[in-house]
Amino acid sequence: MSFNGIVTNSSSSNPVSGGRVDLSEWVTLNYAISFILVVVSLIWASWPAALSKSKPMVPGVYVVGGSNKNEMKATAKRFRNESKTLIREGYNHTKGHEPFYVPSNLGPRLIIPTRYMEELKSAPMDKVDFVGTVHEVFEFDYTGVVHRSRTVPNTLISHLTPNLPKIMPEVQDELKVAIHEEFPPCDDWTEVEIMPCMSRVITRATSRMAGGKALAHDPEWVTAAISYALTAFNASQKIKSIPWLVRRLVAPWISEIRKDIPWCFSVAARAAIPILEHRERTGEDATDFLQFLKDNTKDGERENSFISHLLLMMAFASTHSSVLTIGALIYDLCAYPELVDIVREEYESIVDKDGNIPVGEFNKMVKTDSIMKESQRISPITVLTFERIFTEDKTLRDGFTIPAGSQIGVPNFQIGMDPNFYSNPEKFDPLRFEKLRNDPNRANKTQFVSAHAQSMSFGRQFMDQECKAFLVKLLTNYDLKFKDGQKRQPNVPFNNQYVLQRVPIMIKRRNL
Ligand SMILES: *[C@@H]1O[C@H](CO)[C@@H](O)[C@H](O)[C@H]1NC(C)=O
Ligand SMILES: *[C@@H]1O[C@H](CO)[C@@H](O)[C@H](O)[C@H]1NC(C)=O
Ligand SMILES: *[C@@H]1O[C@H](CO)[C@@H](O)[C@H](O)[C@H]1NC(C)=O
Ligand SMILES: *[C@@H]1O[C@H](CO)[C@@H](O)[C@H](O)[C@H]1NC(C)=O
Repeated sequence: MSFNGIVTNSSSSNPVSGGRVDLSEWVTLNYAISFILVVVSLIWASWPAALSKSKPMVPGVYVVGGSNKNEMKATAKRFRNESKTLIREGYNHTKGHEPFYVPSNLGPRLIIPTRYMEELKSAPMDKVDFVGTVHEVFEFDYTGVVHRSRTVPNTLISHLTPNLPKIMPEVQDELKVAIHEEFPPCDDWTEVEIMPCMSRVITRATSRMAGGKALAHDPEWVTAAISYALTAFNASQKIKSIPWLVRRLVAPWISEIRKDIPWCFSVAARAAIPILEHRERTGEDATDFLQFLKDNTKDGERENSFISHLLLMMAFASTHSSVLTIGALIYDLCAYPELVDIVREEYESIVDKDGNIPVGEFNKMVKTDSIMKESQRISPITVLTFERIFTEDKTLRDGFTIPAGSQIGVPNFQIGMDPNFYSNPEKFDPLRFEKLRNDPNRANKTQFVSAHAQSMSFGRQFMDQECKAFLVKLLTNYDLKFKDGQKRQPNVPFNNQYVLQRVPIMIKRRNL
C-alpha cells in the first residue's frame, strides 16, 4: 500500500466526470493538498518515531552480530526469523552471566542475566513500562488496542486470585459444557484441528470467569474475544510494512483498523454494558471480573463502555497465552502417550463426583504441573520474557546502569536449555520439575505458576487452574493421538514469538 494510492483514492471524485471542470486547476489543487498533507504528516509522524528509534546503548556491552551501524542493521533484519539463534549466540558469549544486546525490529534489546531479575522485579512500577513492548509489537499508536490503564493487571492481582475458590467451580462447569458443544462428535477416531475448537472452549471458560453465563454463552462475544488479538496482530504487521513517515496517514485505511477492531469494540460494548446495567438496576452482585472492574475502577474509568474496553484487553492478555500453552501440551501428550496415563491417574484420585477439581486440590496435581512446565520449557510462547521498557535510568547494585529508554528482556528459552540449570536440557523429561521440587534451593521455581514473569500475564494463577481443569475435562472425555506418521513439530521463532506449528490430531470420545 502506498501513500500515493491512498491520497489519489481519497480525493476521489473524478475531475473529468464533472464535465466542465478545468483539469489543470484541479490537478494543481490536488497536488497542493497532497503536498501539504505530506509535509504535515512528516512533521506529525517523525517526532515520536524519531525519539523512540534512537535507543541509548551502554558502551562496552557485547552486541550480537557486531556493534557498528551496518552490522546492527543487518542483525536486526535477521531477528525476525533467527531470534532464537541470535540470543543463543549472546547467551553463549556471555555464559549467561552478563548483559548483551541483540539488535531487533524494535531496536537493540538489552538482554539481562537472571541474576538481575529479583532486583528488577522490585523496581518501582512507574519507572518501568510493562506494556511498552506490547505497545510496540502491536503498534498501539495506530491500532489503539492496548490501553495504558493498569486497571486490568491490578484487578487480576488484587481480586481475581483471592476469589478463585468461588470462580473455579463455575469455570469447570463451563469447560464441561463447552467441550461438548465446540468439539466435533468424535464417536470414532476423527481428525480434528484442535486449536480453533480449543480457542472457543478456553475463551468461553475465561468469559465465564469474566462475566458469568451471560458472557460465556454469547457466541459473538466469544468470536470477538478470540479475533481481537489476531486482528490487532495482522494490523500491526501491515503497519510495520509501511514506511514510518507516512504511517499516520495510511493507518486509518487499513481494513483491520477501519473495520475489524472497531467491530470488536462494539461487540464488547454490546455484550458487557447490558450485564452491568442489569446489575445497576437490580442491585445484583456477582463474583466475576466485570464486577471487580466496576467496583475498583477510579473516576474516569467507571463508564460502562470503558469497562467493556478493559474486558477486551483482559481477553487480549489472557486467551492466547492459555490456548498456546495448552496447545503445546496437547501435542506433547500425543508425542508421549504415556503422559496421558500419568495425568489421568493423578486427577482420578482428586476429582469430585462431577469430575471437577475441588477448591484447594489444584496444588495436588504435582505431576501434571511438572508436565505443563516441561512442555513450556521446551516450547515456550516467546523466546524472551520479562520484557519491559525503562522510563528512567536504573543503576543496579553491582553498578551496571540500564539507561532510560532501554528495552530489556530475559532469555527464558536459553536459560531453559542451559545444562548448568537443567541436566540433559534437550530431552523432554516430563517429571523433571517434580524431581526438582525436592531441591530446597530450586523448589520455588519448579511450579508452573512461577514459570515466567511474562508481561501482561498477571492472571497466572487463573491460567494455571484453567489449564489443569481443561486437561481434566479433555482427558476424561477423549482419547488423543497423532495421525500415523505425524510427528511433534518444533516451534518456530518469529521475532520474539516462538510459534506453535499446528498439526491435525486424532480424537475419539471415550466410552465411560
Ligand atoms: C523469513 O522466513 C520467511 C518464511 O520462511 C521468508 O519468506 C522470509 O524471507 C525470511 N525473512 C528473512 C529476513 O530472512
Ligand atoms: C559457544 O561458545 C563456545 C566457545 O566459547 C563454542 O565452542 C561453541 O560452539 C558455542 N556454542 C554455540 C551453540 O554457539
Ligand atoms: C490474519 O491474517 C491471516 C493471514 O493473512 C489470516 O489467515 C487470518 O484470518 C487473519 N486473522 C484475522 C483475525 O483477521
Ligand atoms: C521461596 O519462597 C519463600 C516464600 O515466598 C521464601 O520465604 C523463600 O526464601 C524462597 N526460597 C528461595 C530458595 O528462594
